Amino acid sequence: MTTSRELHLITRPPGTLPVPGELAMVEVPVRAPGPGEAVVRNLFMAIDPGLLLRMRSIEGEEPEFDLGGPPWGHAIGEVVESAAPGLRPGDLVLHRLAWREYAVADAEQFQVLDRDLYPSVSNHLSSAVVAYVGLHQIELRPGDTVLVSSAAGAVGSMAGQFARVWGAGRVIGSVGSPEKVEFVTKTLGFDEAFDYHDGWPDLGGIDVYYDTVGSWQLEAAIGAMNPHGRIVLCGGTEQQHTGQAYGIRNMQLAIEKRLTLQGFTTDDHLDLFPRFDREFSALVANGDVVLAETIVEGGLDQLIPAVQAQLEGAYLGKVLLRF
Ligand SMILES: NC(=O)c1ccc[n+]([C@@H]2O[C@H](COP(=O)([O-])OP(=O)(O)OC[C@H]3O[C@@H](n4cnc5c(N)ncnc54)[C@H](OP(=O)(O)O)[C@@H]3O)[C@@H](O)[C@H]2O)c1
Repeated sequence: MTTSRELHLITRPPGTLPVPGELAMVEVPVRAPGPGEAVVRNLFMAIDPGLLLRMRSIEGEEPEFDLGGPPWGHAIGEVVESAAPGLRPGDLVLHRLAWREYAVADAEQFQVLDRDLYPSVSNHLSSAVVAYVGLHQIELRPGDTVLVSSAAGAVGSMAGQFARVWGAGRVIGSVGSPEKVEFVTKTLGFDEAFDYHDGWPDLGGIDVYYDTVGSWQLEAAIGAMNPHGRIVLCGGTEQQHTGQAYGIRNMQLAIEKRLTLQGFTTDDHLDLFPRFDREFSALVANGDVVLAETIVEGGLDQLIPAVQAQLEGAYLGKVLLRF
């Protein structure tokens, strides 16, 4: 009988990092699929900053992960057995049943992917769609100066590259290390980048800020915006990592400069996905954008060390765990 290892959430991390005892590795038999179900062997799962946010309760918010089972998370797997009409062994599927080696569930939970769309099956877990949808929330004008935070991260690395191919005049990345400065300028084609640990440089006026971090970087960006500038509010990594809310102190400037601050959630824009798939796969195939990803080897045993390393800013691009 095939068995599957799963990581179960036992208690909630009190602080920023998970500590021993909060998660347990559990071995379970892989049951045969019931009518309408399929068995999927997971190949990759996404590791993203939201994992910790969803484990913890933050400032009165309900945590999204239940105790006593594997948390949800995005994964890609291959169908190994099916009792569902729409799924065949060998199909590549995207789903939310991560944190386990095998998933057995109703076929509705699995979305069949086109294996040939991207160079690697792992690319289907890219956060490029988040960058794409976010930039569609504002008007990007030819020649705009665009600033992207966490520019070497999963979303930021793609937001800066989309801005470049869509006609921005100058694309600047804010990052957390000299290696990342080199990566976003030399590999991803950003015009400039700076390590925010060295202070916030004079950027000479920003038209569009793609914000993945929030907190003090958002405040600094508001200070650097040109009049009528546009800010895409995508994420709040700083708060996710520290668990601390941050009060933006210069909102008055947003009024004086007539800024637009536009938040969004990717899931509200599923209508853009087919267009995204077409445009993005063509950009990748033509070599116009680099799909940056770090693959962590070693399966579930490496999940928590990888989450910790991500918090320390150790990785480039989208972080994926290979099962
Ligand atoms: N709106 C939506 O629909 C949507 C969808 C997906 C994700 N998001 C959000 O977008 C944000 C970015 O997601 P991602 O997957 O692309 O993450 P990411 O940027 O790849 O996250 C890892 C990076 O965060 C940075 N970081 C670590 N600690 C930090 C801190 N204390 N302050 C600031 N930055 C820190 C590090 O980069 P540096 O070394 O450069 O600091 C690290 O490499 C997250 O908040 C995520 O929840 C939103």
